[in-house]
Amino acid sequence: MTRTAPSPLRSVDLRSDTVTRPSPAMRRAMAEAEVGDDVYGEDPTVIRLEEAVAALTGKEAGLFVPSGTMGNQIALAAHTTRGVEVIAPEGAHVYEYELGAMAALSGLMPRLVPAPGGVPDPADVRAAVSPGVHRAPTGLVVLENTHNVAGGTVVPLDVAAAIGEVARDAGVPYHLDGARAWNAAVALDVPLAALCAPFDSVSLCLSKGLGAPVGSVLVGSRALVVAAHRYRKMFGGGMRQAGVLAAAGLIAVHKGMARLADDHRRARTLADGIAGAAGVALDRARVQTNMVYLGVADAPAFVAALAAHGVRANAMGARAVRLVTHLDVDDDDVAFAIEAVRATAATLVA
Ligand SMILES: Cc1ncc(COP(=O)(O)O)c(C=O)c1O
Repeated sequence: MTRTAPSPLRSVDLRSDTVTRPSPAMRRAMAEAEVGDDVYGEDPTVIRLEEAVAALTGKEAGLFVPSGTMGNQIALAAHTTRGVEVIAPEGAHVYEYELGAMAALSGLMPRLVPAPGGVPDPADVRAAVSPGVHRAPTGLVVLENTHNVAGGTVVPLDVAAAIGEVARDAGVPYHLDGARAWNAAVALDVPLAALCAPFDSVSLCLSKGLGAPVGSVLVGSRALVVAAHRYRKMFGGGMRQAGVLAAAGLIAVHKGMARLADDHRRARTLADGIAGAAGVALDRARVQTNMVYLGVADAPAFVAALAAHGVRANAMGARAVRLVTHLDVDDDDVAFAIEAVRATAATLVA
């Protein structure tokens, strides 16, 4: 008979900022939300949410969608025609983690450019542009801010603007996977609208650092949102009385950003506490928002051992472990996690 180790009393979940549970205020707002049929454009709470995010991002219009993946994929479809290339930074979520959707749904081909620390060089983007004589033409440029697999790193405003110039010169639209654009704006200490200014469209998640249970908003021009509305229905994302979800989203949008700086501070504390642990590589320069990536010899084994110490983390490939701070993690949890990571590292290296 095999025996499993007793589970520790305390458990801290650092797998992602998506694991948070809606607050009592969100649940109340959801229960009391004024609703209508959103496929008919008749849900007043959804409309308020779309208008609020459009205003915050400085765009004409917004569209509430079920997920960040759908927000990105609707944008990709709405901006392009089949058979074109989409330039994106290496490690981009639209390429790595959306299940080949750009190919499967829209007939698009990714063209990745180097992105050390999540930041592409505008010259590399320019060199990647194809006029479409022998290669598929470039149809869209995508950026990710913050860049998830680079470490939750922030793309500076001047770089985002310079890549926008490249897109404009190429005559193609420019989309931001802004799942965590809120975190980027807080880290740069700029208004969200400034961060979103160079882009024709931005997809922003409500269900990550902001703490809503479900949903993202795609923003852009009114014409883009009209096209996006059609693709949302085509991709199965037309929701009916979605105001029950949008009500939580509104609280996330109005209250969530104010506390992201705490997540960032806790991620730095976590990184400082872990740095130097045996067998763990940690690049503190990349800890810019709410993520800490650890380089280890065997990520799945490390994650399993760490879970036995009461901390849940994600293995991102064979050698990287990701820890993410969020709404449901406090200073004590961070202190607990530091001890757990150091104890795990000591055990695995010994
Ligand atoms: C950078 C980035 N873009 C898009 C998404 C997709 O969001 P969702 O899980 O809501 O589809 C994620 C999710 O983790 C992400 O990290």
